[in-house]
Amino acid sequence: MTHQPMPDERIVPNPAEEAYWAGLRHALMLDPTVTYLNNGSFGPCPKIVFDVVVESMRRLQSQPFQQFLREIPQAVRASKEKLGAYVGANPDDFAFVMNLTIGMNMVAGGLDFERGDEILTTDQEYGAVNNCWNYLAERQGLTIARVAIPSPPESEDQIVDIVASGITPRTKALLVSHITTTTGLIMPVKRLAQAARERGVLSVIDGAHAPGMIPLNVEDSGADFYIGNCHKWLMAPIGTAFLHARPESQKLLHPTIVGWGLTWDALRRVIAADQSDMYRLFEFLGSRDLSPFAGVGAAVDFQRGIGIDRIAGRGRRLARYARTRLLDAIPGVTLLTPWDERLSGSLTAFTMPTLTERDLMAEVWDRFRMQILGRVTENPEVTRCRLSTHYYNTYEDIDRFIEILHELGAGR
Ligand SMILES: Cc1ncc(COP(=O)(O)O)c(C=O)c1O
Repeated sequence: MTHQPMPDERIVPNPAEEAYWAGLRHALMLDPTVTYLNNGSFGPCPKIVFDVVVESMRRLQSQPFQQFLREIPQAVRASKEKLGAYVGANPDDFAFVMNLTIGMNMVAGGLDFERGDEILTTDQEYGAVNNCWNYLAERQGLTIARVAIPSPPESEDQIVDIVASGITPRTKALLVSHITTTTGLIMPVKRLAQAARERGVLSVIDGAHAPGMIPLNVEDSGADFYIGNCHKWLMAPIGTAFLHARPESQKLLHPTIVGWGLTWDALRRVIAADQSDMYRLFEFLGSRDLSPFAGVGAAVDFQRGIGIDRIAGRGRRLARYARTRLLDAIPGVTLLTPWDERLSGSLTAFTMPTLTERDLMAEVWDRFRMQILGRVTENPEVTRCRLSTHYYNTYEDIDRFIEILHELGAGR
């Protein structure tokens, strides 16, 4: 079901708005000769955020012992409080982790399963996350059941029906992305978590793309475990993510990396900044440089200065413009992302005949210095292309992309 936009839905850029966003783009460190339409892989961080990290790294070298045990943990805790307020999570209920992959492994490896248990998930999950659960399933004799979500789906109701009907008496956990990497679909995670809970199933949400793309309230999602990335749409330093566990679900999660944090005895004598069990068991993981986490607070401040509704609105307008232009200009484009604004945000995925992964990744970068994402699908004949439109992107970026597609012979 591909909806064609009506003429009154067409977007005309507003010069004052464009000037505002251009000012923000200058606060980033992106190379001005590069067109970056791939925020969904890694977000560029504002210079002010980068400076906080570098300053923290510098201070660490000035007196490693005091900085590591006292000063940096306080800065990290301050970041955690800001992040918690921004994404609707009590700072005591989440641990900072390096990335989503690590947080997901902590959940998969930290829960008790029995041979024969089933994990229910969808056909739109991220490859590394699939690997994590498939590997666990193989080692522990679990089954992975995968429901197919249409691209695009018709409604939230349809998604909930498909997922809920996949739950069986053997299902122990439901794993879904909040925003899917393959099609940019925003899943109704609150309804899915509720459907899981009603059937005695734990919910695990891959929130790689939600923080900083759309308004987010982790507690309100009702998920037992929610892992979110800070280094994509929140544009915090690379190597920053969080693992949130509802208070009632924390006791179900065992640490898989065990060090001083196993008990409070030793830790309380040296660390005063963060007294939560999530910190002790999932964040205090031996000697490492925590400076990137010190920068998360600055990334939150930066986004708060703009406003998440304004950011989400900008991303959606650019995405809508991109989708309209693609359908208008490139014969044969099949849009995978829904038009419905409850079901999609700042990611746009589509397929089109003739272009290959090589064209979209190597040619587009080498010849035109534009970064997008192109991946061959399960069907080797079909390549899926994904555009990320964050607030710093422009309508010209999208026009340029369309021109490049023409130059590459798309749709011919
Ligand atoms: C949906 C989804 N999950 C997980 C990840 C992995 O994130 P990370 O590389 O931070 O572990 C990504 C990264 O693109 C993603 O898109």
